Amino acid sequence: MITSPGRPTRALIWLGATVLVGTLALATRTVETHPRISTTLVWNKDIAPILQRKCFTCHTPFNVAFSLASFADARPWAAAIREEALERHMPVWAAAPGYGRFANDPSLTQNELDLIVAWADGGAPSGQTLDEEQTPSVPVAVEAMWDAGQPSSTTALAAYQVAAGAPAAVHRTEVTAPFTAPTRVHGIAFRPGNRSVVRYATVRDARTNRWLFTWTPWSTALHLPESAAFVMPAQARLVVEVGYVGSEAAVTDESQVGFYTGTDGGTGVATADSFAAPAVTVAPGAAHARTRGEWLWPETSALQALWIDPIEGLVSVDVSAYLPDGSVRPLLWLREPSAVWPSPYVYEDPVPLPKGATLRVTAYVASDATTPRTATPAVHLIRIPTTASTF
Ligand code: HEC
Repeated sequence: MITSPGRPTRALIWLGATVLVGTLALATRTVETHPRISTTLVWNKDIAPILQRKCFTCHTPFNVAFSLASFADARPWAAAIREEALERHMPVWAAAPGYGRFANDPSLTQNELDLIVAWADGGAPSGQTLDEEQTPSVPVAVEAMWDAGQPSSTTALAAYQVAAGAPAAVHRTEVTAPFTAPTRVHGIAFRPGNRSVVRYATVRDARTNRWLFTWTPWSTALHLPESAAFVMPAQARLVVEVGYVGSEAAVTDESQVGFYTGTDGGTGVATADSFAAPAVTVAPGAAHARTRGEWLWPETSALQALWIDPIEGLVSVDVSAYLPDGSVRPLLWLREPSAVWPSPYVYEDPVPLPKGATLRVTAYVASDATTPRTATPAVHLIRIPTTASTF
């Protein structure tokens, strides 16, 4: 059949129509799964590096929460990531901004938050080939590490078995620090044997029961300034409490505690103290109850770190210093601190406080639905020496 150029045959017209309809159908499907891209921000260049800093301590295949490590993992969560970030639910951090600056604050900066929101609102584009989307675009730690560097010495906890199907649990054990003589310890770290089951670990002095350090995924070591150190006796006994999540598969955890012992020859001693508010009981269905406790700051020194006992039902915790000159210095304000993520709060600049200051803790406790709840909110702290010039 001969046709004049420019006049398509009926068959070709039909073919064209079919292709057109097919294209429309495809376009409609495409719209459903891939929203229009209206941003130049892409996963691998702009978003993955933020999540690496702020989220991959928990959200990888080897950590305690589901993986967001690759685009393929994260894309279905784009809207949820936006929400969690905007509401500041993630990363986990209970300290209200403006009440103390903390070295271990993992919160998103405003710029990081803006980028995540703009990326999600703009259709959450990848910037990668389909193949690349399947694997993490930034390095992801695959095994347990000493995040803060190799300690000077370590001690291992006895292996702990998390049985298949086990619920969340807290395991307490004692270890002996590997010192044969009194030793100045400038830092303490913890290395979870299996990061997919360990939520937190708290280290205390077994003799005094004083708090020394808590590991959380975003807070992996405590380093004191060079001028200060804990002085640990030979064979110091430490109580280590590890919070485990439940696990579907049976898992063995072999965690370790690490110690950093400088060669400073200094004499400044770091001191662990604690005080509590009086116990308060809240009846089922009752309004929040308040309890308040005070503690006299014993000598001129600087506050290095605070830790609030992880107890259920805390609505808020405020710790402030009332100074002899009548001024008030807010130190920490926690809003709904989670009992399963008991973060330490380590000051970026240790807070110098004069002898005679009063530390006051004010805690609000929520009731339980069915049984009365009794709570004794406790504050643990680490003090280090100040130089006279600090005042
Ligand atoms: C300290 C650990 C930790 C960090 C850090 C963390 N997350 Fe999470 N996240 C969790 C846990 C645990 C869950 C609960 C999900 C589960 O059971 O696996 C969760 C849940 C979520 C969810 C699901 C919420 C829902 O809708 O149920 C999103 C989305 C999320 N995280 C995003 C983020 C982002 C984005 C960051 C970083 C900005 C981040 N997370 C940092 C531990 C963490």
